[in-house]
Amino acid sequence: MNNDIKEILISHDEIVSRSSELGKIITNDYKDKDLIVIGLLKGSAPFMMELIKSIDNYLEIDFMHVSSYNGTSSGDLQIKKDITVDIKGKDVLIAEDIVDTGKTLYSVVNLFKERGAASVEVVSLLNKQEGRILPFEAKYIGFEVPNKFVVGFGLDYNEKYRNLPYVGVLKEQIYEK
Ligand code: IMP
Ligand code: MG
Repeated sequence: MNNDIKEILISHDEIVSRSSELGKIITNDYKDKDLIVIGLLKGSAPFMMELIKSIDNYLEIDFMHVSSYNGTSSGDLQIKKDITVDIKGKDVLIAEDIVDTGKTLYSVVNLFKERGAASVEVVSLLNKQEGRILPFEAKYIGFEVPNKFVVGFGLDYNEKYRNLPYVGVLKEQIYEK
């Protein structure tokens, strides 16, 4: 599997240390808040598990699996698996692997606001600013990436490569298969 990678963009050590930095910032920002971290499946899972180790507050976790069409409203959101807790009055922090067009998060943030969350913010491992179609910015970002397709640490190509411990770019011949 590692042989399929052309270039490593972000090493495992960099991901671990940046996750710990973000966890400390979030710890401070959410003191005395009723925090629930909601991971968007499947891509956010490795990053979310790394991040929450460094959040030194009481918190709950949950997961949601969605796909978005246009992303212009929460009605464009297909919910494949919903959260199981009531988020009314809670401070929701959505964990995501990457913000690209912004469609997914635009819809999910609106949905959680409609459901009565006290606050809704987003932490994303990666941000692909050039991919943006809708006006959406995550409050907490691990790393900026160029407008290339990346895999690893949760991010997939045809459901594979999520288990790579780093973020990288695939060799061209992988797409030709
Ligand atoms: P958005 O709604 O376009 O911001 O979509 C974000 C979702 O698209 C992410 O959660 C990923 O599942 C997927 N995605 C966007 N860019 C990449 C990439 O470079 N590699 C793998 N998945 C990506
Ligand atoms: Mg995703």
